[in-house]
This record gives sequence, C-alpha cells and structure tokens, in this order.
Amino acid sequence: ETIYLKDYRPFAYIVDDVHLTFKLADTATRVISRISFRPNTDFPGEFFLHGQDVKLISAKIDGVAVSPNVTPDGLTCDVPDAPFVWEAEVEISPSTNTALEGLYMSGGMYCTQCEAEGFRKITFYPDRPDVMSVFTVRVEGDYPVLLSNGNPVASGEGWAEWHDPWPKPAYLFALVAGNLVAHPSSFTTMSGKDVDLNIYVRPGPDEDKCAFGMEALKRSMKWDEDVYGREYDLDIFNIVAVDDFNMGAMENKGLNIFNSSCVLASPETSTDANFERIEAIIAHEYFHNWTGNRITCRDWFQLCLKEGLTVFRDQQYTGDQGSHAVKRIEDAITLRSRQFREDGGPLAHPVRPESFIEINNFYTITVYEKGAELIGMLKRLVGDAEYYKALDLYFTRHDGDAATIEDWLQVFEDSTGRDLTQFKRWYSQAGTPHVTVTDDFKDGTYTINLKQETSPTPGQDSKQAQVIPIAVGLLSQNGDEVSPTRVLEMTEDSQSFTFEGLAAKPVPSILRDFSAPVILQREQSNTERAFLMAHDTDPFNKWDAGQTLAKNVLIQMITQDAAPDGAFLDGIAAILRDDTLDPAFRALAVSLPSEDDMAQSLHGAGTTPDPLAIHHAVEALRVAMAQHVQDILPRIQAGMTVSGPYSPDAKSAGKRSLGNTVLGLLSRLDGGAAAAKQYDEADNMTMQLAGLAALLKLGKGSAESQAFRTQWRDDRLVMDKWFGLTVSMAAPENAARTAMQLTQEPDFDMKNPNRFRAVFGALAGNSAGFHDASGASYTLLGNWLAKLDAINPQTTARMTAAFETWPRYDADRQSKMRGALETLGATAGLSRDTGEMVGRMLGNQ
Ligand code: ARG
Ligand code: ZN
Repeated sequence: ETIYLKDYRPFAYIVDDVHLTFKLADTATRVISRISFRPNTDFPGEFFLHGQDVKLISAKIDGVAVSPNVTPDGLTCDVPDAPFVWEAEVEISPSTNTALEGLYMSGGMYCTQCEAEGFRKITFYPDRPDVMSVFTVRVEGDYPVLLSNGNPVASGEGWAEWHDPWPKPAYLFALVAGNLVAHPSSFTTMSGKDVDLNIYVRPGPDEDKCAFGMEALKRSMKWDEDVYGREYDLDIFNIVAVDDFNMGAMENKGLNIFNSSCVLASPETSTDANFERIEAIIAHEYFHNWTGNRITCRDWFQLCLKEGLTVFRDQQYTGDQGSHAVKRIEDAITLRSRQFREDGGPLAHPVRPESFIEINNFYTITVYEKGAELIGMLKRLVGDAEYYKALDLYFTRHDGDAATIEDWLQVFEDSTGRDLTQFKRWYSQAGTPHVTVTDDFKDGTYTINLKQETSPTPGQDSKQAQVIPIAVGLLSQNGDEVSPTRVLEMTEDSQSFTFEGLAAKPVPSILRDFSAPVILQREQSNTERAFLMAHDTDPFNKWDAGQTLAKNVLIQMITQDAAPDGAFLDGIAAILRDDTLDPAFRALAVSLPSEDDMAQSLHGAGTTPDPLAIHHAVEALRVAMAQHVQDILPRIQAGMTVSGPYSPDAKSAGKRSLGNTVLGLLSRLDGGAAAAKQYDEADNMTMQLAGLAALLKLGKGSAESQAFRTQWRDDRLVMDKWFGLTVSMAAPENAARTAMQLTQEPDFDMKNPNRFRAVFGALAGNSAGFHDASGASYTLLGNWLAKLDAINPQTTARMTAAFETWPRYDADRQSKMRGALETLGATAGLSRDTGEMVGRMLGNQ
C-alpha cells in the first residue's frame, strides 16, 4: 500500500504521557503500557494504534477491560469522548527478532531500533513522529546495566527507572539491557551543567576501544555550543555499541545506539578512514539532539529536514577538525559516485519524496547527502551571517515541534527576506541538473553562457529550472587569478553572466568548491584541464580538473585505444612533487576515478560501458603513472613516514594517505616488495591493511592474507575488513567464486549485517567482478538476497540497489541483471521492503 504526502492528517488523539514497564525475557518479554490520551478536537477521527508482531495479552480503558479489534497492522477500539487512560500488556520475542527492528537481542544484550516505524513492534502505539510525549520507563531484568532514554530516576536489584522530560516521538525510544561495562567521562556545558557521559560495551577487548569515541563526543558537544549555540539538555548521555545493527547509528534521546563498527576504535584495529568516519557519526548522532530530537519531523516525507541538516552539520564539523578542502572533495566523491548514480537510475526520487511503500527504503544517499547539499546551497546563497541568524530563528521558533520543509524554508524567508519559492524545487524534483557552459570574449568582456537541463526521472517527465549557485573565478593565461570567486545565481533555463574589464581572454574555473550538486558540461581541451590542475587557486577545482582530465584520458584509452596522455602524466608528477600541497590533498589529486564512476561517465557520454575494458584501462593508466613518476616515488614515500605513536589526527592521516597512494604506484614497479615490507613492519591497521591491499591488488599476498586472518581471527570488526578486502581485490573472473567461498567460512554469519555487507557489499563494489560477463555475481547476489530477505528485510532491500545500474549496460548484462531482479521479486513471501525496491528497479511502480 502506497502512502502519500498529500494525504497527511494529524492524529485524532493527543498523548499526554506514557509509562512503560518491560519484563525482559528472551522469547516472551512482557511490555505493559499506561498511556494518557485525549481527543484532538481539531482533528477528530478513529482511535487506531499501530502494532506489529505483538501479542495482546490484555487491554483496559480507565481500568475497565476492553476487547480491541486487532489486525496485523494494529488495533482499533471504542474509546470515550474525553481524556482516558489506555493500558495494555503485550508479549514480544526479542531473541527471535532477526529483522533487528523493535526490541531485539545482539550478542546477549537487549537493544532497540525504532526509527522509522519499529516502535510498533514493541507495543500498540500511534507510531508516527508528530505524536510526541513524555516517557517514563521501568526496565526489569537480571542484568547489571538497564538503560532507557532521559535521566535515571531510581534503580534496585534487577530493575531501573528512567524519565525523559523532553516530549518525543516513539521512534526516539530506546532500551538497552545486558552485561555491559561503561567507559565513563563527563562534560560541562556552556551554562555550567555537568553531564555524565558513558560508552557501554561488552566486557573484554572492546573496553579498550572507547577512548577515541568519547573524546570525539566531547569535541562534538563543544562544537555545537561554539558554532550553533546548542547546549545538551539532560544529566546523562549514553552510547551503546551493538554488533548487529542495520545502519550506522541511531540518535535515540540520551541513549544513542551504535553499530559497533561506527564507535569502537583502536590504532591496531582501525584505519585512519575508520577513525574519521567514527568521529563523523558520533558528531552526527549527537547533533541530532537539536536537529532531529528537539525539532523533529512531522511525517517521514520530511526526513531530509533532520537528516540533510544533520549531515551538513557533521560535514562542517569534520572540515573544522582537519581540512575543509579535503572534506569537500571527499563529500563530492561520495555524492557523485553514489547520489548521481541513484539520481540517474530507476530509484531516482526527490530529496523530499511524495510517496512510499516502505519508509526504510528512503534512508538514501539522496535524502541524506543531496539533502545536505541543499543546506549548503542555501547557506551560500544567503551568506554565513544570514545562515546562522536563520538557524537561531529555526531553533527558537520550532523547538518542541514536529516540523516540515515548508516550516524550514519559511524561517529562511522570514529571516532573510528572500523568496525561496523556486529554491523549493530542489526538494521536489529528482534528478541531477546538467549545466552546459559556453563562453565568449570580446572587448575586455568575458561572457559565460549557462544552460540547465534535468533528465526525466520515474514519475517526473518534465523539470523546471532550479536556482543554481555557481561559484566562478577567472585565471589569466599565465595562471594568476584575475577575478576572485563570485557566485552566479542561475535561475533560468538559459542565462549569461559577464565579467568586464579583462585584458585578455581568461581561463574560467567554474563550480568552485562544488557549489551545487550538478553535472558540469563543457568542451575543454586536455591542455586547459592540465592548466587548471596546475594553477587553480580553488582546491576543489584544482582536484576536479585532474579528475576530469583523468576521466577523459581513460575514455580515450577505452574508446580509441589511445596511449595515456602526456599532459596528464606530467600534471600528476607536478602534484606529487609539490611539497607545498597538503599530503591528504595530493593523495586525492593523484587517485583515479573509480571504475563505477567511469561506467557512469561513459554512459552519460552515450557509450555503453564495458566494465572489463574499464578495469584494464584504469590499471594500464596506473602503471603508466607509476612509470612516469618512478624517480620521485621513493623520496615521497620516505617523506610521508610518520614517527612516534600512532595518532589519527588529520595531519598524520594525510601523510599516511599519500604514502599509501604512493605505495600503490610503487607496487606496480617492484612486484610488491615495498608492500610486503610495509605489511611486516606495520604497527597500526592503516599501514597493515594498505600493505595487504597493495599485494592482493597484484594477485599476490596469499601468505600475508592468511597471516592476517590468523592474527585477527577473534576480532570481528577486523575480520569484516578481511572478508571485504578479499572480495574487493579478487580478479574480475574470480569475484563471484571468492564471495561464494567466503560464505562457507565458519565465521560467515548472514544474520550479522556487517558480515553480510562485508562480503556482498564488496562484491557489488568490485565493478568488473560484479559485472563479469558470465552473470555469476548477479545470480549469487540475487540468491543470497532472497535468502536474507526472510531474515532481515531492511538490509536486503538496501542491498538490492546493487542492481540499479542495469540500464547502463549492454543487452546481455541488462537481461541478466533484470533476470536476477525478477527471480528475487518472485521469491515466495518476499518482504514489502524488497518488493518495493525490485518493483521500482524493474519499472513496475
Ligand atoms: N536516524 C539515523 C541516523 O541518521 C538512521 C537510522 C535509520 N534507521 C532505519 N532503519 N531506517 O543516524
Ligand atoms: Zn541522521
């Protein structure tokens, strides 16, 4: 059944307060609820409570037993036309809950995941974000640690009571119980309130992996005070690490629950990239306390209200911890490779969708990352000062509300006086705008002509012009900046902008800092790209000039059998040699586009991509690069040595990043000698894993791989890396077989999403292997998804997106990919989650 935004209606009852008692038991937990309702006189209607997989034991209204009408989705009941108290006792089975939604068990502990609609698997309730209430929770169970939201009220042997004074929707409810140990600390807020902080893990090796996350939490709390003026609002803030989790983490009020891969860190077991991601996710969940919890969403169509804004905030935070330029490039890489891919395929949807079958299918890169880009564009259009002024108004005006995108834009209109009617199209139109650029120069005047066009997407045949902020700077022919960055505000389908008083025709640097999530199209010579790669003063565009050039060189190699372009190779050498550039930036600037990005680019240019040809071309170009810069590699690598104890700070990580990029090139020349040496000598996971990856990439390293497996056998997070790397580095023709063999390992556990994703996410990400002409990978993934669907629909549905690229490929691959989807779609008892995804990909919905 499809749900539509236009059908929104407030709930017919108001919830004044909620009391819950949990009597924990593996297969028969009892949940006793006492809820005060009163009729919502403005919107009278049916008394319907959501409920799914909960067994009703008894129900009462104002103390009198009632017999509600129970269906698979919930219940209805005759209720008084006045305030009343609803009481119910239900039974649920956490230990058999493999969907990891609602109350479930992971590694012997009880935990919950309620967003988006999981609370209805705990008890009967109006499970919608616009119903907010104050919760008091009593947890009974024979465990040392019993947690819920808010502040602790009282506890005794085998029980604890919690009270959350902040009204909240049910999706922010959380409960944890188990044999856990706390890594404690504290934080004093800007108004002088002391907050107890804890990261809870199971006893054992995880206890030594909490320190970094705790420091990251404190940095986040301070940052939100300094930058947004937002203070924490409870006496305690708890984080719990859970091994079985469908997503990264969850911002439950005062009790964040994390996938252990997104919070546990140690130098020996985590890479620099892990550290950066962990810090970003801790910040993200913490920032939700204001953007998400204090101000929540009216309905799930408004998901980007909290997610886009919170992603934007965590991106700002990460930039502030290290380099804004590097962070912007990393975010652009993600957006272009995954969001543009989504926008260009059958799963394209607006940042604010207008309909869904299963909301969990809309926790997407479009809602999150494109949603964040919209905030960034708004900030660029109104300016920093106006942005923060508007945010202050947003927090004051909407604190305690379940708000909408209309509310959000209204705040900006009222605060800045700007009309955002056209800007709002970014929320409703799917697809990536293509901006085509031409230019003229005459009598000292330089003109840029822009044309925007967005291709049709499912359900949206024609698109209207959007407001596109395009940051432009001009360089002289000898590389000086003759016109500093200026933001052109494009609002029409076609529009021209002029720059006066120039001595000679300039070289334009367009879409600086990636000022809008668009695809720029411009006829440009390799020479001009190499020029910008060398001289652009905007780090993003300096990097992007190299990427565009690399793509073009690869396209020429693939379609014309051309030799690797000399200007490109010289440009790479110049970047590598330039010690004035940040190592982290240099590492990004000499990295080639991914094979999947190349397929996307070729398809965009009207050529059917051949994944194997792309794979070979990328490898050939890498070898050519290595040969071209041969002389300087050892010096650069030596210069990137980081001495002293490991630290994940941005500067050290940047050096390791460049050093490991260089190692990848070196290994093409020395047969893996340097990589093997690095593997043996490594004293941290970043260096060890990079050594192993470089060896596997050459088709070598089986001894190291076995050693790694033995060394880390008992560390599940490191083993996820090993499972993943083994599949990622498999040669195209071996990828499916490698993945299949890994599923037979004793520690392959399909019920654990991290492990399943390690193998099959890596298979989908091994472009040439996934698209191997035999179709073996399509079949293998399709079959495993069919099996997983019966266990965990959410993770299954999410992973079906591996097939979203089918329209790019040749007829044979298309029919094999569609065939795998059709087989999956025909699975008996297929979940609504997976059914919706398959249907959309096949164009049936
Ligand atoms: N709100 C969480 C976050 O952004 C994501 C949890 C969503 N979970 C889900 N099952 N859809 O961090
Ligand atoms: Zn979030």
